[in-house]
Amino acid sequence: MTDASDCRRPLDYRERARAALPAHVWDYIEGGAGDELTVAWNSAAFDRVSIVPRTMVDVSACDLSCELFGARYATPLGVAPMAYHQIAHPEGELATARGAGAAGALCVVSIFASARLEDIAAARSGAEASGPLWFQLYWLRRREVMLDLAARAGAAGYRALVVTADTPRLGDRRRDRHNGWAVPAGVRAVNLDAAVMASAHRRRPGASALAGHAEEAFDPSATWHDLEWLVARAPLPVLVKGILDPADAQLAVDHGAAGVIVSNHGGRQVDGAISALRALPPVVDAVAGRVPVLLDGGVRRGRDAFVALALGATAVLIGRPVLWALAAAGADGVAHQLRLYRDELENLLALAGRPRVRELGRDAVAHG
Ligand SMILES: Cc1cc2nc3c(=O)[nH]c(=O)nc-3n(C[C@H](O)[C@H](O)[C@H](O)COP(=O)(O)O)c2cc1C
Repeated sequence: MTDASDCRRPLDYRERARAALPAHVWDYIEGGAGDELTVAWNSAAFDRVSIVPRTMVDVSACDLSCELFGARYATPLGVAPMAYHQIAHPEGELATARGAGAAGALCVVSIFASARLEDIAAARSGAEASGPLWFQLYWLRRREVMLDLAARAGAAGYRALVVTADTPRLGDRRRDRHNGWAVPAGVRAVNLDAAVMASAHRRRPGASALAGHAEEAFDPSATWHDLEWLVARAPLPVLVKGILDPADAQLAVDHGAAGVIVSNHGGRQVDGAISALRALPPVVDAVAGRVPVLLDGGVRRGRDAFVALALGATAVLIGRPVLWALAAAGADGVAHQLRLYRDELENLLALAGRPRVRELGRDAVAHG
């Protein structure tokens, strides 16, 4: 285990995690679709945006809070939904939720979490300063399973549902195919029926078991009418994740979405898809303030979060860097990682003379 204090910036956890994890697990976490063009573009896009500092502004107190669905969230940083945290650390999502809770950050729990969603909620509320939880769903052929999970999440105190729209089937993850990747036998998506999940554990040389499982379980026929169906039955607001086209953002809102998440799934679905950051401003314009817009993909520094917030995101989700910290140092690592992001963001707000996250606008950045 790494002493969390060894890591001075979010990226420092990357090599610690690589050293801590078996190569095939590392490849599953780190890899993307195809030639991984979009994986690279997601973070490169942030480097092409400059910050325009203001001066002579009172920055003696910075306010990082944001508002989502009528509630005040302490920070605009959260954890993106990611499957099977137990592959990174034996305490899995329980540790992630404790760490995110301690940092006061939102944590979006994946439908493929390796801990019961109720236990995750209990672990989170034990943290000294707890952050909110949301629950993510995929479009399953078995719709009754989606509704059952939605009801359980509502009863357990989750505050929103996220339905992922970019996965009618799994992207071509070559590293996983090459490794014959399957979810290790001891790690289970315990919120779902074991029979439904069996194929995710079935190793076949030259194939990804997850791709096979997705083909079996995911519904490739889902359309906007299905979103209306879900929104009408869900006990919580429903956000749509995986939006890149402004027309889709508009359709999502028209069909009842309470928010949209601009995301290309961390480059794991369409290789060569537009970077999340580049897709953000047109989506923000199309939504025109009717619902919040979040972003994930390639956020590797507090500075990247600043840029996304300035370009119109209400909050920003972080994917792989949270799993790096979890693998390296468990719950403490997750809390520390989120604090590194937060501190970088807070410092930049002060230095750039823009002390309130909620007032950040496009004037705070310039292209090139
Ligand atoms: C290991 C791993 C598992 C993931 N599992 C899910 C998932 O279960 N549901 C989902 O909507 N997105 C999933 N994602 C995508 C993330 O929610 C997010 O879109 C992406 O990781 C953000 O990019 P970043 O890793 O560059 O921060 C996963 C990503 C990774 C790396």
